Amino acid sequence: ALYPVIMAGGSGTRFWPLSRQARPKQFLPLASKLPLITDTSARLKGLASVKDTFIVCGPLHAKAAAKLVKGLPKANLLVEPVARNTAPAIALAAVQVAARDPKGVMVVLPSDHHVADVAGFKRTLADAADLAEAGHIVTLGIKPSRPETGYGYIQVGAALEGGGRKVRAFKEKPDLDTARGYVKSGDYLWNGGIFVFRVDVILEAFAKHMPEMQKGLDALRKAAGKRTFGGVLKKVFPKLPSISIDYGVMEKAANIAVLPGDFGWSDVGSFAAIPEVRPADANGNVVSGAQAVVVDCHNCVVLADKRPLSVVGLTDMVVVDSGDAVLVVPKDKSQDVRKVVEALKARK
Ligand code: GDD
Ligand code: MG
Repeated sequence: ALYPVIMAGGSGTRFWPLSRQARPKQFLPLASKLPLITDTSARLKGLASVKDTFIVCGPLHAKAAAKLVKGLPKANLLVEPVARNTAPAIALAAVQVAARDPKGVMVVLPSDHHVADVAGFKRTLADAADLAEAGHIVTLGIKPSRPETGYGYIQVGAALEGGGRKVRAFKEKPDLDTARGYVKSGDYLWNGGIFVFRVDVILEAFAKHMPEMQKGLDALRKAAGKRTFGGVLKKVFPKLPSISIDYGVMEKAANIAVLPGDFGWSDVGSFAAIPEVRPADANGNVVSGAQAVVVDCHNCVVLADKRPLSVVGLTDMVVVDSGDAVLVVPKDKSQDVRKVVEALKARK
């Protein structure tokens, strides 16, 4: 069977004031009427069962996450005592999957992405699962459209069966010059952040490339399925290194394959990405809110679902009213919204 693992530990500070500590980006209905995490699980319908789905998140978000993914078995909600980034989060899920199905195929999904072509996405995942069965650690590759430095880059190698390609090199978050070179060369894909592998294969990769996790992992594996698991987790997890799967495994392992896919992927990185995931009007504006009035505006994002808001004569601007706070920012500065959160934190 396929075991979807939804990673929901991120904080998403670029979506303030809609996102707050208790309500990070994955809980917001940014791309549809439903929260991103609900869409993430729902789009797997027909490919995997929600009964086989796992969510990994922190204690602050566990309740909300469970509520937003209907039918999730209680035992499949995996709560990290502290955030340790994605390698330990994936290791925690792997331990649980391995206890049920030692050769099961995990599909690791960020909780906060959008996919426009769901059928195409599922076809790609099915092909990825075949490659994973054969022993590859598979990542989905996206054709790059700009030298984005917040992504991983995959150098594509020889062809494999089913449209897959060997990965020659994986480079996480290169600097801008390097990213420019990669995009220009045409040899690289973006890492979509979606991974497919057999559970025994990833556990072997952890053993080989992250030996500093082994002691903790062994303790967790021994306790899996037992009543003592929670206690062991509390003791062991905080000692695991805080490192992402990209740096910890993807940059190092040799058995990596990529499945290029063109399914309207977006990681909804900031308010500027909203037009990638929601229809704009004839003037290029994306407007949400029955009481929002937009006059003589072009290419703006206006989100105001709580009370009347009017915007006149703006171009390339983001205006967001969450009901209790307002944000105004030029679209090309939307990445800097996280600095607002930093400033607010410093004030406390
Ligand atoms: N449970 C849990 N615990 N989840 C986490 C944690 C954690 O400690 N840290 C991050 N996550 C979740 C986030 O909520 C998100 O859904 C996903 O894991 C990826 O984490 P990000 O923090 O968003 O990673 P990134 O965007 O910097 O980079 C990754 O995604 C890019 C594509 O969007 C990398 O995989 C890049 O290589 C990739 O290009
Ligand atoms: Mg991300």
